[in-house]
Amino acid sequence: MRNLSGKVAFITGGGSGIGFGQAQVLCAEAGMRVVLADIRQDHLDEALQYFKVRGLPAHAIRLDTTDRQAYESAADEAERVFGPVELLCNTAGVSQFGPIEQATADDWNWQLDVNFKGVLNGVQTFMPRMIKRGTGGHIVNTASMSAFVPLPNTAIYCTTKYAVRGFSECLRIELEKHDIGVSLLCPGAVNTNIDKSVLSRPERYAQTGYYGADPETFRRLKSVIADGIDPVDLARIVREAIERNDFWILPFPEFIPTIERYYAEVVAAMRRYENDVDYQRRKKLGKGMPGARD
Ligand SMILES: NC(=O)c1ccc[n+]([C@@H]2O[C@H](COP(=O)([O-])OP(=O)(O)OC[C@H]3O[C@@H](n4cnc5c(N)ncnc54)[C@H](O)[C@@H]3O)[C@@H](O)[C@H]2O)c1
Repeated sequence: MRNLSGKVAFITGGGSGIGFGQAQVLCAEAGMRVVLADIRQDHLDEALQYFKVRGLPAHAIRLDTTDRQAYESAADEAERVFGPVELLCNTAGVSQFGPIEQATADDWNWQLDVNFKGVLNGVQTFMPRMIKRGTGGHIVNTASMSAFVPLPNTAIYCTTKYAVRGFSECLRIELEKHDIGVSLLCPGAVNTNIDKSVLSRPERYAQTGYYGADPETFRRLKSVIADGIDPVDLARIVREAIERNDFWILPFPEFIPTIERYYAEVVAAMRRYENDVDYQRRKKLGKGMPGARD
């Protein structure tokens, strides 16, 4: 999407951290009108102040992205206030970490619902509207380096982020014909409020095998991201990627050695079967599966 100025962006998680950074840059620097959608009214109120004092066009909507019906109403409201949404930033997400064997069904459902189904709901809401208008658009999905790198105690979070990555890679292929660009943002550490994610966990996911609002845990989690990139700096990177129509937004090269090792391991596992008799038979037939290139 080349010219962002004057267009409308809908940003989930816009009340805090990465989403708020995106709202600031897209509005104050790129000249967009921005809709901030967030489950936390206090986050929205605080974020909206930034735009109010500067006289910038921003509108806040309280939305739980896991609620498909409410999402549709939020999209209607956004379009009533500012007109058609051409950029969707699926940024809202939560994290809670711990040993896989301690996770309850609610622990799984909360993160799966927000981190993956929230993104899916955003796409299911805005994609048909974009296609129907026929003037293209852009979708930025936020995953994480956890969409590539499994670590102990991150099974739920990793699962949701791998899902966002897989979904986004397919979306990219399928939406090209509609001139809808797709970007996948995979941050490493970003200095946000994600350490206190559990404060936005709704009552309906009450049963947890992990921690609650525990100051010592918050302090430990914050120490992991406190030296991370500033959300506004990250948002400037995202803005440029949207303008270039980049799919991958991976501004954390410190992960290169890990990723190289990971893909080397995958390729080595495949090479083990290169002399396999059945592989030789399939190769002779010359009819690879879609996606396979000999
Ligand atoms: N901060 C990091 O280091 C980091 C690293 C990798 C990926 N991420 C991802 O970046 C995204 C943004 O996180 P952040 O770091 O800015 O955290 P944050 O907590 O500062 O902001 C997330 C916002 O999402 C909102 N939210 C939570 N559940 C919601 C729901 N159901 N519906 C609507 N809004 C909801 C929260 O109220 C909050 O305002 C997440 O998807 C997260 O997984 C963050």
